[in-house]
Amino acid sequence: MLLAQLLAQYQPQAVLNFAAESHVDRSIHGPEDFIQTNVVGTMRLLQSVRAYWQGQDEAARAAFRFLHVSTDEVYGSLSPTDPAFTEHNKLEPNSPYSASKAASDHLVRAWHHTYGLPVLTTNCSNNYGPLHFPEKLIPLLIVNALAGKPLPAYGDGLQVCDWLYAKDHCSAIRRVLASGRVGELYNVGGWNEKPNIEIVHTVCALLDEMRPKADGTPYQSQITYVTDRPGHDRRYAIDASKIERELGWKPAETFETGIRKTVQWYLDNPDWVAHVQSGAYRDWVQTQYADTP
Ligand code: TYD
Repeated sequence: MLLAQLLAQYQPQAVLNFAAESHVDRSIHGPEDFIQTNVVGTMRLLQSVRAYWQGQDEAARAAFRFLHVSTDEVYGSLSPTDPAFTEHNKLEPNSPYSASKAASDHLVRAWHHTYGLPVLTTNCSNNYGPLHFPEKLIPLLIVNALAGKPLPAYGDGLQVCDWLYAKDHCSAIRRVLASGRVGELYNVGGWNEKPNIEIVHTVCALLDEMRPKADGTPYQSQITYVTDRPGHDRRYAIDASKIERELGWKPAETFETGIRKTVQWYLDNPDWVAHVQSGAYRDWVQTQYADTP
């Protein structure tokens, strides 16, 4: 109802679906919210947008786009020697989170094929950057390091992800929205495949340089190996050559430039950090890291 009203009021030429529950660990503790937001929520959005789109004139219908933001995690897990995910990989999600995102990707595809809705889907790798909620690895490392708390590496710390600076992700989405071919998927990645423990060491080294500890000890002394995430995917890697070839998009940041900007932002914004570490956040940390010394 609210959606129908907003669409009628603002008459958008495009709708971008960024809305999602996105944290794998939370999906393991409570899958229900993920099904509700990511699957049912996407269906409701598609239904409202379809009704709005069908009421437009022919030119507006042809120009309209529904862009669905998804994840590389829908493709499952790679072995160390597998080629990176392309848009042709099968969807083999392994966590409640990635299964809910794969389900929503299927819904978007079906609304295109069944109703003709002009959709686009992007599958991105792990985002990082300013304003990132500190339940995720990189912001959690920064805020825990500064607070003198443990830096939790799951399992052996050798799981691999690709890291995409959030602003680069935004520029990719703009490009796909402007020029992507209707009905197509576009993988978006940063060409920054790294084992988690390397991320931890990089953040520690930057903080040693930018905010050295008063007692002179290195931040890496706070690294703590903790129980692994159940069903933890071993490796994600994105082949982002289609978006580069077809739409001329490439990330502007390397991991080295992006992570430095990110650490600097957290150092410059302690008030934001304090504000988001509210009661609900503390409850989450207690649930997830109860066994961490
Ligand atoms: P995360 O930032 O939680 O993103 P996602 O929800 O997409 O998995 O995790 C990124 C990687 O870092 C993942 O392999 C799990 C690992 N990780 C840790 O080792 N320790 C942590 O405390 C967290 C939050 C994640």
